[in-house]
Amino acid sequence: MLKAGSRDGVDGARVKLSEVLSALSFVLDMVEGQPEGHVVRSCFIGMTIAERLQLSEEQRSALFYALLLKDAGCSSNASKVSALFGTDDFQPKRALKTVDWSRPSKAVLYVARTVSPDGSFWTKSRRFLAVGLQGPKSAPELVRIRCERGAEISSLMGFPEEAAQAIRHLDEHWDGAGHPDGLKGEQISLLGRICGLAQTVEVFYTAHGPTGAEEMARVRRKRWFDPALVDVFLAEARAGKLWEDLARPDLSRLISRMEPADRALMATSERLDLTAHAFARIIDAKSPFTYRHSEGVATAAAKITEHMGLPPPAVRAQTRVGLLHDIGKLGVSSQILDKPGPLTDAEYAKIKDHPRLTYEVLMRVPPFRDIAETAANHHEKLDGTGYHRGVTGEDLSLPSRILAVADVFDALSQDRPYRPALPMEEVFAILKKESGQKLSPECVEALMSLVSRGEL
Ligand SMILES: [Fe+2]
Ligand SMILES: [Fe+2]
Repeated sequence: MLKAGSRDGVDGARVKLSEVLSALSFVLDMVEGQPEGHVVRSCFIGMTIAERLQLSEEQRSALFYALLLKDAGCSSNASKVSALFGTDDFQPKRALKTVDWSRPSKAVLYVARTVSPDGSFWTKSRRFLAVGLQGPKSAPELVRIRCERGAEISSLMGFPEEAAQAIRHLDEHWDGAGHPDGLKGEQISLLGRICGLAQTVEVFYTAHGPTGAEEMARVRRKRWFDPALVDVFLAEARAGKLWEDLARPDLSRLISRMEPADRALMATSERLDLTAHAFARIIDAKSPFTYRHSEGVATAAAKITEHMGLPPPAVRAQTRVGLLHDIGKLGVSSQILDKPGPLTDAEYAKIKDHPRLTYEVLMRVPPFRDIAETAANHHEKLDGTGYHRGVTGEDLSLPSRILAVADVFDALSQDRPYRPALPMEEVFAILKKESGQKLSPECVEALMSLVSRGEL
């Protein structure tokens, strides 16, 4: 369990954990199809309500991390959403947040606008019917997967049960018409009620401005939201600086100050490792074909590093880089990632862009900046035929070469949409063929020797 003020490492110890999570929340916004800053702004709105309610420090601390991690489960239903709607997963997720789907007329309109946007009339009609038949059964299930996974990630990072429960209750409604369990009134935890209100206010604020957000809260008072919380929010919106502060460019810094001071968590090495493991789960949940890929790459890369005699800090960095190397894949549609047939040029270009996005995401997080370039090099080849930059051997550091071998090894040993997992002899044959020209011979050698000795 994480404790405030614990000093088990130094690399991020001058940075708060909340700053790391705020910076990483940019990818969660992407997966949810939300404009950048959705999580951060939701956190500000929720914490403003909590301050008005004078919640205890303990409650505010749990709420703070629940708000920052509320979308941590967002990738786990992406494949299913994409398959159900016959489109990318971003569009239905984006629309879902603004539609009052508990009203049948609005739900039908939402489905009609969202299904197979590029399909023919017949494709759209077939899909419309399929969503109409499966939707009512699928919706609670899709929400359950997302909320359960988010709650699990919060617990994995050591946050208290109140934070996990708030994430589980995120989409429950005051009148009992929410998901996944149809909880009603005070059956929904207070922190869950605040999270639900805060995230919806944010979506309407971004889409329709302050007036739209206030109007939505008034209309859904007693239906979606606890009336007492709506009253607190509306009073704050009228009297306070809520809207003015929300528009500030330094909002992340403002949020960092909303964490109860006595409970402020610093980004120690141990917490950064936990964050990397948590985000690896988020990355791998995006597609059924990458189940435990990031963990697998991290393990292989760390073992090769150790085997080559590098010191423990290098092994730790290599583990983190293995866990986070595919974080850019969170920006690629599940429709492309899970496509069983050949990709079009445009789809392949999107796939080839994911290491660039990995770099962009990791550079936003100060304690992860030193692994950003290595992570972004994982599809580069010694002969310059890789992507996303097409650099050659001289520009590829030893950690980059190790990571590339670990990534190929793990990918070949797993099922893919277009082929089953390959047997180990075939994996070895491919690695040997690429050794020297595309992959570092020393790293391939180290990996094969580890596998032969049963250590991988
Ligand atoms: Fe990749
Ligand atoms: Fe990968």
